[in-house]
Amino acid sequence: MSAFDLIVRGGTCVSHDGIGPADIAVRDGRIAGIGDYGRASAATVIDAVGLHLLPGAIDTQVHFREPGGEPKEDLESGSRAAVLGGITAVFEMPNTTPPTTTPAALADKLARARGRMWCEHAFFVGATPGNIVELAALERLPGCCGVKLFMGSSTGDLLVSGDAEVATVLRSGTRRIAVHAEDEDRLRERRPLAVAAAYPAAHLEWRDEEAALRATRRLVALARVAGRRVHVLHVSSAAEMEYLAAWKDIASVEVTPQHLTLSAPECYAEHGTFAQMNPPIRDASHRDRLWQGVREGVVDVLGSDHAPHTRAEKAKPYPSSPSGMPGVQTLLPLMLDHVNAGRLSLLRLMDLVCAGPARLFGLIGKGRLAVGYDADITVVDLRARRTIAAAWLASRCGWSPFIDTAVTGWPTATIIRGQVVMREGEVLGQAIGRPLRFQETLAPSITGHGRAADKGW
Ligand code: DOR
Repeated sequence: MSAFDLIVRGGTCVSHDGIGPADIAVRDGRIAGIGDYGRASAATVIDAVGLHLLPGAIDTQVHFREPGGEPKEDLESGSRAAVLGGITAVFEMPNTTPPTTTPAALADKLARARGRMWCEHAFFVGATPGNIVELAALERLPGCCGVKLFMGSSTGDLLVSGDAEVATVLRSGTRRIAVHAEDEDRLRERRPLAVAAAYPAAHLEWRDEEAALRATRRLVALARVAGRRVHVLHVSSAAEMEYLAAWKDIASVEVTPQHLTLSAPECYAEHGTFAQMNPPIRDASHRDRLWQGVREGVVDVLGSDHAPHTRAEKAKPYPSSPSGMPGVQTLLPLMLDHVNAGRLSLLRLMDLVCAGPARLFGLIGKGRLAVGYDADITVVDLRARRTIAAAWLASRCGWSPFIDTAVTGWPTATIIRGQVVMREGEVLGQAIGRPLRFQETLAPSITGHGRAADKGW
């Protein structure tokens, strides 16, 4: 009998304690040893010579559209895209139909995910004026990564926009709360600009920097009064990044690879409504300031804001076209290319997509390569030169603004709890994804959602 289930041999480990050559030995889904396992036996051995091994990469913002939007995406296709892109876990958003705003809706998503999701997962619950009193209990249910609050409207009808309501939501629980910060009053006031202009670059006028900054300032002020930690999603402007740098004690920061890669006006000239997202892609001066935030440690995590819409929907004339673009599968290829271009180090990227999510959200057993942790490993070839091809994309929406983009750096294998679920572009085995576990979650047995053992935890 082999000593280990899996050995990943000869790679360079990238984790909280730095970068260096080491083999990783895995038993029962967990890392059993890191070091020289050159002579040890294992049921499966992966040769990682010349490759880098990251803790499994986590995408903390995806919209997988199930239930209600399956022609755009479902939990199977979205999570297949994730593992093809080297992502081992996702936090999924609540603006589905129906929205994830009740215990029943959360339980429904967890049931749908079982046996169909390829990666580990957790679901945000949405705040609405109608469920504020239940949020404190909802956010602590197993499989929930926390509360999502839309201060400005986007896809779907989740919205909590007024100061008094936002303050009530902030007082209603304890976990870090994820917020879409655009000021609803300003968005309503300015929508006629988009209607009158009727071209996609007008998205910048409608949902301008002031709309984002105003909401972020209001949010931070309310969070300070409530003593509640907030997580500002997809920060898009220079002024917000500047402002948030001063409030790291209470606010954490996400940016998307799209906002770090694309810039206006070129993206609208090239992709039209297919580059339309909320908050918008702005000009290069904003993009440069976001990169400064990445370099200076203001940014805590990256989220792809994977938001698929069908081609037919996106082809509608602006502004009837929906906002959002897919991104879970291209997050790592784009960011590895940025590593190769010298915009951030591989260690910093690891912190943004592995350690950062674990630290901010209190993930158990994920986010570092260390003995006892789950053997979630993203294997990357930093030297591989590839072109993002339409045929490689698994998202049901079937498009990406990054098709035909050449990158250097590519995820070559995705390993979840010691099982190889993707290798060289092939999805392997079964959809083994399980719910993520969080420090501030109630034990499953306390909530009556079944004993831990029943769930294989
Ligand atoms: O562009 C966006 N699309 N931003 C969001 O906040 C929501 C997302 C979606 O769900 O389509």
